[in-house]
Amino acid sequence: MSQLALVYEAKKNQRIQSKPIPEPVKGCIQVRVEAAAFNPLDYKIYDYGLDFVEKYPTCLGVDAAGEVTKIGPNVTKFKVGDRVTFICTANFPEGLTNDGERGAFQQYALADVRLTSKIPAKADYDSASSFPVAGNTAAGALYGQLKFKEPWLGGEGAYKGEKIVILGGSSSVGSYAIQLAVLSGLEVITTSSPSHFDYLKSLGATAVIDRSAPDVAAQILAAAGGPVKYVVDSISLPPTQLLGVEILQPQGKLVLVLRTQPPTQAAAEAKDIAMLGTYGPSGWYLSEPFWNSVEGFVERGVLEFNRVIVLPGGLRAWEEGFSLHRQGKVSGTKIVMRPLETK
Ligand SMILES: NC(=O)c1ccc[n+]([C@@H]2O[C@H](COP(=O)([O-])OP(=O)(O)OC[C@H]3O[C@@H](n4cnc5c(N)ncnc54)[C@H](OP(=O)(O)O)[C@@H]3O)[C@@H](O)[C@H]2O)c1
Repeated sequence: MSQLALVYEAKKNQRIQSKPIPEPVKGCIQVRVEAAAFNPLDYKIYDYGLDFVEKYPTCLGVDAAGEVTKIGPNVTKFKVGDRVTFICTANFPEGLTNDGERGAFQQYALADVRLTSKIPAKADYDSASSFPVAGNTAAGALYGQLKFKEPWLGGEGAYKGEKIVILGGSSSVGSYAIQLAVLSGLEVITTSSPSHFDYLKSLGATAVIDRSAPDVAAQILAAAGGPVKYVVDSISLPPTQLLGVEILQPQGKLVLVLRTQPPTQAAAEAKDIAMLGTYGPSGWYLSEPFWNSVEGFVERGVLEFNRVIVLPGGLRAWEEGFSLHRQGKVSGTKIVMRPLETK
């Protein structure tokens, strides 16, 4: 049986081809991919190579949702027909996307059952496909780097009275970080464009500050009642990194999702700030208990998948998806394509 896949043959070389549908191996399920979401990582791998691909050809794409079509050996957690979302990573726990069987940008992919969640009836495939990488990165920041006790391990509501600033709340990572922080009991102050203020408050942020305001730091400090102990910079561009250092107390903690820039390093050292990074898959919170809790959180309404824009054209939408991210035109939504609509 064959399918259509977006095959990544070499750096900057990707095209739609017919390819066998992968048969599920031990610990995996075969999923018909109804929705595949874009991450900035996808175009960065395509443009720069990065070191995420060890072997060509492969399929890129790390976020997918779809229907289970076959069960692999030793799998009891899922059955054919289940609706699932999963992170497309071949080498758990290292988390590299280097296996052509598991990439999201194809019509059928294999999912590791440890990193897969059922989707509650109230959520659709498109929105559910937004969760895997951004949700894992947000969890990595809060529970991996900042070491808050995980809500799914008894830490729900445990941090009442504590504050956190999440820079870039309207990004996919930021929106999941807000929701998880709120679940942990933290009071969240965040930044975004004004068009997303209401949305981010609906996710639980207590204050949202215009990210482009000339006095953004002063406004954050006013909302937080002074310098804070924790900042998650979901954007981690040079200006947000410096903003993070500026609003932190001495000995505060700054989590970045991209590499630390030299000016940030110098400013952080001057304030004795701990620089924590979730850069790359080693920072993802790849944990089976976390994935086991996702369905229940969504069911309870304490976790909401991202709003989405679905691009037309099935897998052919990849160029537009990459381009939107490359140009910084993604704002407060996840960009999604539906591989099965490929003609
Ligand atoms: N470490 C990892 O493993 C990992 C994993 C996932 C993502 N990342 C990185 O994390 C970053 C975010 O990824 P994503 O998928 O969440 O991105 P995204 O959803 O595509 O981000 C778009 C959002 O970024 C916001 N934004 C842009 N510049 C900003 C600034 N200066 N201040 C505040 N907000 C700003 C925009 O806000 P407005 O529209 O409100 O203006 C927009 O909503 C990317 O650099 C990505 O590569 C790293």
